Amino acid sequence: MTNSANQVYPVIWHNNSVSLIDQTRLPNEYAFVEIHRSEDMALAIKTMIVRGAPAIGVAAAYGMYLGAREIITSDAFGNVFDERTEFLNKLEIVAQLLRETRPTAVNLFWAINRMLKTAHATLGSVEDIKQVLFHTAQAINAEDLQTCQAMGDHGLTVLPKTPEKLTLLTHCNAGALATAGYGTALGVVRSAWREGRLERLFADETRPRLQGAKLTAWECVQENIPVTVITDNMAAHCMQRGLIHAVVVGADRIAANGDTANKIGTYSLAIVAKAHNIPFFVAAPFSTVDFALSDGNQIPIEERHPEEIYQVGDTRLTPEGVEFYNPAFDVTPAELITAIITENGAFAPGDLAKYQLKHCIN
Ligand code: MRU
Repeated sequence: MTNSANQVYPVIWHNNSVSLIDQTRLPNEYAFVEIHRSEDMALAIKTMIVRGAPAIGVAAAYGMYLGAREIITSDAFGNVFDERTEFLNKLEIVAQLLRETRPTAVNLFWAINRMLKTAHATLGSVEDIKQVLFHTAQAINAEDLQTCQAMGDHGLTVLPKTPEKLTLLTHCNAGALATAGYGTALGVVRSAWREGRLERLFADETRPRLQGAKLTAWECVQENIPVTVITDNMAAHCMQRGLIHAVVVGADRIAANGDTANKIGTYSLAIVAKAHNIPFFVAAPFSTVDFALSDGNQIPIEERHPEEIYQVGDTRLTPEGVEFYNPAFDVTPAELITAIITENGAFAPGDLAKYQLKHCIN
């Protein structure tokens, strides 16, 4: 996979290392960071060079491989059992480093667990396990791309039938940059555009980090999708004026009952959509559903540095001596969500768990 004008892949295996689009520099600079070691991948996730739940999962999977390939086992007697145990113990240290980067997006933990399970299940030498881990990271990347494309198609089946050309509203960035490519919520938008069903996308700027104004807007420009950026507090007004036909957002973690954690501000958007009788869709892969959590109260919410609120570039916005609270995500209750669009179809939020049981998804 290579990046070109309108094919955006935020995480690529290239020249024996991982090439990340540096999302902290967009839209002004389209630059890449080369990652050779798991420690650097952990830092890239923490500092949001790579961000968005599925993209974090793909990056963590490669991070696991980068850590695995550096593990040196010290068994002097050629005892294969001990060498394997030592390798798996050291791999757990790599996993822990990556787990400590960001707490809310469950795709991070899902990908790390899949890599660990694969390592434990692989027979053969330590070198064999390393090879299998590499292929598993590649598979996680490729699967996410397919998953997003399937989500885009399923999204088309639930979008309002009228008017023929819709104006959709999204929050944050759930696009190609936030996934292996194509996007979840923005994947639905892309599919609607491709099928001639999209008039325009409204993008919330998404304070405090402005993923909507910077990243979603940038992605739309790459593909000539008409986009209007609004500040977050303008959404209710736009709905009242009849400018919005449906809302489509991504997710960082969905509890078994359908309660959904996504970028801060999503919950208030869902409330105003309900107040205006506008359908509110969440688009996310099954890897974002945490069936271990019965409801959204149990989802850990990341708090980030207050500087994201009080500082813009070199300018401090607020006086010294005030306090800040900077939760990065909020939880939208399932009853405010019209449908959750996944790679396996669109579901009423409460039906995800039934589907999981029937199809043994873990
Ligand atoms: O803090 P971020 O930028 O990683 O948050 C991203 C979001 O909230 C996205 O909406 C979510 O991860 C879904 S991405 C397909």
